[in-house]
Amino acid sequence: MLLDVAPTNPDVRRGRDAAASQRTGARRRPRPVRGGGVQPQVGHVPVLAHELLDTLDARPGQTAVDCTFGAGGHARQVAHALGPTGTLVAVDRDPAAAGWFESFAAEVPCAVRFIRASYLDALTGLQAEEAHVDLVYFDLGMSSMQLEQGGRGFSYSHDEPLDMRMDPGQQSTAYEIVNTFDQRALAAIMREYGEERHAGSIARAIVNGRARQPIQTTLDLVATINAAIPAPARFASGHPAKRVFQALRIAVNDELGQLDGALPAAWDLLAPGGVLAAISFHSLEDRRVKRFLAARAEGCICPPDLPICVCGHTPEAALRSRRAIVPSPAEVAENPRSGSARLRAAVKLAVPAPDSGAGA
Ligand SMILES: C[S@@+](CC[C@H](N)C(=O)[O-])C[C@H]1O[C@@H](n2cnc3c(N)ncnc32)[C@H](O)[C@@H]1O
Repeated sequence: MLLDVAPTNPDVRRGRDAAASQRTGARRRPRPVRGGGVQPQVGHVPVLAHELLDTLDARPGQTAVDCTFGAGGHARQVAHALGPTGTLVAVDRDPAAAGWFESFAAEVPCAVRFIRASYLDALTGLQAEEAHVDLVYFDLGMSSMQLEQGGRGFSYSHDEPLDMRMDPGQQSTAYEIVNTFDQRALAAIMREYGEERHAGSIARAIVNGRARQPIQTTLDLVATINAAIPAPARFASGHPAKRVFQALRIAVNDELGQLDGALPAAWDLLAPGGVLAAISFHSLEDRRVKRFLAARAEGCICPPDLPICVCGHTPEAALRSRRAIVPSPAEVAENPRSGSARLRAAVKLAVPAPDSGAGA
């Protein structure tokens, strides 16, 4: 379901603005929110911000979709590049982002629209509206605010209910997974989504522990993990619960299913010449983005032993760079969270129509 918290302002559906608004349902710049809207309690530093802006090459008058708006760090930069004739559609499934969007909308020059929904639902909704856009980008995972603001259950450093939902309206929580999934399913989640070496023994400890009493909070889970792993692993680099928390968060929010569905939907929305970009923070995401873009950038797919091309397959995409773009050492020093970030992007090429005679 798509929920607009920033409905279209019918007063501005004129001229070029009207065309942009009709394409994406955006509204023109609103009046400043009284009280400045809900400000992030803690700062979120956008990762690879200059690199993303460079890669997108946003121009005045274009339409962009920010699929992971957060506190609008990236969106602010893109919105300024789009200018007064451009349009930015912001998507986030966390209701907290709606408050940050209000202050963002009051300060940027372009037309804006907020869709509070998963990016998969939002992109599917835009497809149904037959929207065509110039830029779509993702900054995957969770924001610093989600991690640091109390009560969301993302942090292994504070004692909070085991929740981890980005959208609090969603039913399933980390509590449900930890306290109801069988041992094999728990181990599979930790192994697959967290690459946790001790997944088997942690899953066994969870099942034994919850037989006595449910594992209620983040620190109950941390204690269970600590008790299940060998002593050296407790003192190895990184927090011993980091991988399990990542795995649970991915499972609760179906992060990989979302990405698998969203990449083709985003690609479909792009007009020729448009750019799709994604910043990922772990290999499970990066691999998906890399494979998706590489498949679109592939030309001839004939078996290598054929002397001439018979497939007629032409590339739909030109990769912005063959390798992922990574943060500079200076950025990592300033914001250690950026250390694992990888940016990949591609431009959508105009594909010749099937009967145009191009190809084989
Ligand atoms: C890393 S933060 C983005 C930060 C943002 N780029 C900024 O500069 O402030 C990721 C955001 O994406 C949102 N998010 C993650 N997965 C999502 C999904 N499948 N659908 C919609 N929003 C999602 C999260 O709620 C979070 O606010």
